[in-house]
Amino acid sequence: MNSPNSNVCVYPTLQALTTAAAEHVIHQASLAINLRKKFTIALAGGSTPKNLYALLASPEYRTRLDWEKVEFFWGDERHVPPDHADSNYRMAHEAILGPLQIPETHIHRIQGELADAQEAANRYESLLRNRLASTDSAIPQLDLVLLGMGPDGHTASLFPGTDAVHESTRLVVAPWVEKFQTFRITMTPALINHAYQVTFLISGGEKAQVLREVKEGPYQPDALPSQVIKPLSGHLTWLLDQEAASNLSTQQSD
Ligand code: 6PG
Repeated sequence: MNSPNSNVCVYPTLQALTTAAAEHVIHQASLAINLRKKFTIALAGGSTPKNLYALLASPEYRTRLDWEKVEFFWGDERHVPPDHADSNYRMAHEAILGPLQIPETHIHRIQGELADAQEAANRYESLLRNRLASTDSAIPQLDLVLLGMGPDGHTASLFPGTDAVHESTRLVVAPWVEKFQTFRITMTPALINHAYQVTFLISGGEKAQVLREVKEGPYQPDALPSQVIKPLSGHLTWLLDQEAASNLSTQQSD
């Protein structure tokens, strides 16, 4: 599934991947700030992105970006309050938002605490439309969407067998996820694929088989939702560690 507007970079270790991802974010942020005076980023949940957030907040990186020009969003959220152990917002707040003392006005979280997950999705869609610019299309454009990928091929909270995988008009939906017996709130392919940059951050040997299926197997997004991520005019970057990339037939190593 290699397209002209995508590239794959493989790194020998998780640490090397995390460092490369930090450089990638800094670079994309600098471009966006130079061109559009600010940088809008949608964060992913999960353990792989958490390493990146902590590195960006470290003394080595925290001075390399004008954080006052960065606005934080989330690609997905669990149906839990912001102080819950499962909250993607909480994870990001602990790893980067708190350490960098990012002002609340620059933090745009999904209200996972609302009893009605669809109401949370509706409110987040309104927030996105109000906060984000959109060029010719009616769909707003984020500068960078960070994504992880689960061993089942899900990304954000686009899980196999859910209608969210095929959502082409709404920006945010609240699918019921049978395997977890819970609702999730997630950005849709319609929104993600309008971003200037979309970057997968994938590590670990447990992802190797599904990554090969996603990138080299037949197009079957109901089973492999990550396959629907195809930026319309933006760029798709796959940042992988060697373990995750070990089953790919073609590897580009940086
Ligand atoms: C979530 C994440 C999810 C995550 C993948 C990969 O809310 O759980 O958004 O899509 O990115 O499950 O997680 P790891 O990087 O921890 O494997």
